[in-house]
Amino acid sequence: MLPEGTREVLLTEAQIAARIQELGQLISDDYAGKNLLLIGVLKGSFIFLADLVRNISIPLTIDFVTLSSYGDSTTSSGNVKIIESLRANVSGQHVVVVEDIVDTGWTLSMSRILEDLHSGNAASVKVCTLLDKRCRREVDVPVDYVGFEIEDRFVVGFGMDFDGLFRSLPMIAALDEKTTL
Ligand code: IMP
Repeated sequence: MLPEGTREVLLTEAQIAARIQELGQLISDDYAGKNLLLIGVLKGSFIFLADLVRNISIPLTIDFVTLSSYGDSTTSSGNVKIIESLRANVSGQHVVVVEDIVDTGWTLSMSRILEDLHSGNAASVKVCTLLDKRCRREVDVPVDYVGFEIEDRFVVGFGMDFDGLFRSLPMIAALDEKTTL
């Protein structure tokens, strides 16, 4: 059923689950025998991260950073701040930063989180995103694991919000344009 306020289901629960299983397998293979630290970018990544880690079969640790969000707008302000930073010591860790969606790229780029991880002597730093809106990229950010590439539409569900709402939807849906007015 189409959730109220949305226009179209883009990815069903089953499609998302199948792809996360594949990503988990890929990461398990790539990091076998290494110290793996997953860093979830809050708030949007919390559901994806929870499902992803349960599909990774090797030992790992988890931390979170909170970056400022879009507020109630559907476009990036280009003014991104780290609201809560890492607790983990990243030195010698193989780090995968887990994002819900990479859109313009400003969030990852302006937060300087990847640079901070390198200067904290992480053994390696990669990015895993559930969704990639590559057609909207304004800054070149490295994205190593991608769940799905999507077209230029504002999406909600599976952790992603509009004005704080819709995060709990189990599927990913395009927001109804009327909801943004
Ligand atoms: P970027 O800075 O434009 O790359 O956007 C990254 C962040 O913006 C994501 O982590 C999301 O929090 C938010 N975002 C971008 N596009 C969408 C969308 O379609 N729906 C919900 N949030 C989005």
